[in-house]
Amino acid sequence: MGSSNEVIVIHGNGNLAGEVAVSGAKNSALKLMAASVLGRGATTLHNVPLIADIDVMCEVLEHLGATVSRDGHSMTIDTAAVDRNETPYELVTKMRASIAVLGPLIGRFGEARVAMPGGCQIGARNIDMHLVGLEALGVQFDVHHGFIVARTPDGLHGAQVTLEFPSVGATENMLMAAVCAEGQTIIDNAAREPEIADLCAMLNEMGACVSGIGTSTIAVEGVAPESLHACEHTTVGDRIEAGTFLAGGALTGGPVKVTGVDPAFLRMAITKLEALGCTVRTGEDWVSVERTGPLGAVDIQTLPHPGFPTDLQAQFMLLCALGEGLSVVTENVFENRFMFAAELMRMGANIDLEDHHAVIRGVDGLQGAPVSATDLRAGAALVLAGIVAEGYTTVHGIGHIDRGYEDYVGKLRALGADVMRKDIGARP
Ligand code: EPZ
Repeated sequence: MGSSNEVIVIHGNGNLAGEVAVSGAKNSALKLMAASVLGRGATTLHNVPLIADIDVMCEVLEHLGATVSRDGHSMTIDTAAVDRNETPYELVTKMRASIAVLGPLIGRFGEARVAMPGGCQIGARNIDMHLVGLEALGVQFDVHHGFIVARTPDGLHGAQVTLEFPSVGATENMLMAAVCAEGQTIIDNAAREPEIADLCAMLNEMGACVSGIGTSTIAVEGVAPESLHACEHTTVGDRIEAGTFLAGGALTGGPVKVTGVDPAFLRMAITKLEALGCTVRTGEDWVSVERTGPLGAVDIQTLPHPGFPTDLQAQFMLLCALGEGLSVVTENVFENRFMFAAELMRMGANIDLEDHHAVIRGVDGLQGAPVSATDLRAGAALVLAGIVAEGYTTVHGIGHIDRGYEDYVGKLRALGADVMRKDIGARP
């Protein structure tokens, strides 16, 4: 991954067309890696994206005592020797998704000590629902000096839990503890993101007994912890990376074809692309988009899956910014995920923010400008904006992009965009 003094420079040539293979899903692979702690042996994962967050999760697992060997997009994680159940502050602050090891550590050891994850630019990112759900399974928590200390004095037992909100992370942590609990656990109002189904599939391949996969009500029959074993699993394709490139194709007219993703993961995004005036075609593991007429206007509500994904909000706000008419984008999942709008307005977009609504009036074009990424999805969307903007755009803070997009610049260049990484040298 690049240095912190790199930027992405884009010359607005309006070109983005061709075929791109998406990588494995970041938001699945990270959890599959954490789940490998539950099996006492060498789990092999395929289709793992080469991104910074995966590197950090490797560091977390090695800190616990696992050995990780990588071979391109595959990795083997041997957790037989894992003998520590605590994660250090400096790793959790690098990547808050490290909290995903909480459930598996409790499942395997009955206790854990994990640094409290901080918030980030898009919100406080609380974990209260993780803790409430795990407490129902018999976990007792204390918070000492910024660390969550989890114990199970009477062991893990099954429970019927209804999540207050279908939290992805809370569902995952509960799942990875419940598979080792005594008896049955029912998780109601569970998250339905495709990455959850991918995790459930892998847990079953390890010897767990999870049903209701893909629904809001997941049932887990606990098994003896030592009965869980290593497995070999292939990560699902990244629907958000795919949606990002499809938004790029909609922006320029394309046609852009993304391969390596299940179209069923993108139903709502496809619906909105068609509402914006695009033609979308799908196959078993691909989606293509093209547009001949003008971009229209559309209203979007971000919601838990299968609603419109919050991780595509910035990319679609960009489409609305160049559409004809007035669009309203409502962000219902995170409390502060409109910072992208401020950057886009610096390029000439016309957006009014009112609480968690963004009222977007389409403009004829954008002007290239220096802008900053505030999170990985906003960063990716700013690069797309630069492709259709007049002149040059420089995107700062591209470390965000490297966390979640494998070779984003290379994939865009292969589609005809005039983009490059540039080292701007040490800061003064
Ligand atoms: C996952 O985050 C993803 N990250 C996010 O992707 C994604 O935006 C999000 O799910 C929603 O789909 C990973 O999988 C690593 P949540 P997560 O728990 O698990 C609040 C990206 O761009 N909440 O469903 O943290 C929370 O603050 C990233 O790849 C609580 O209040 O999402 C947020 O406002 C960004 N208490 C909302 O719920 C809790 O205990 C959704 O959070 C848990 C969550």
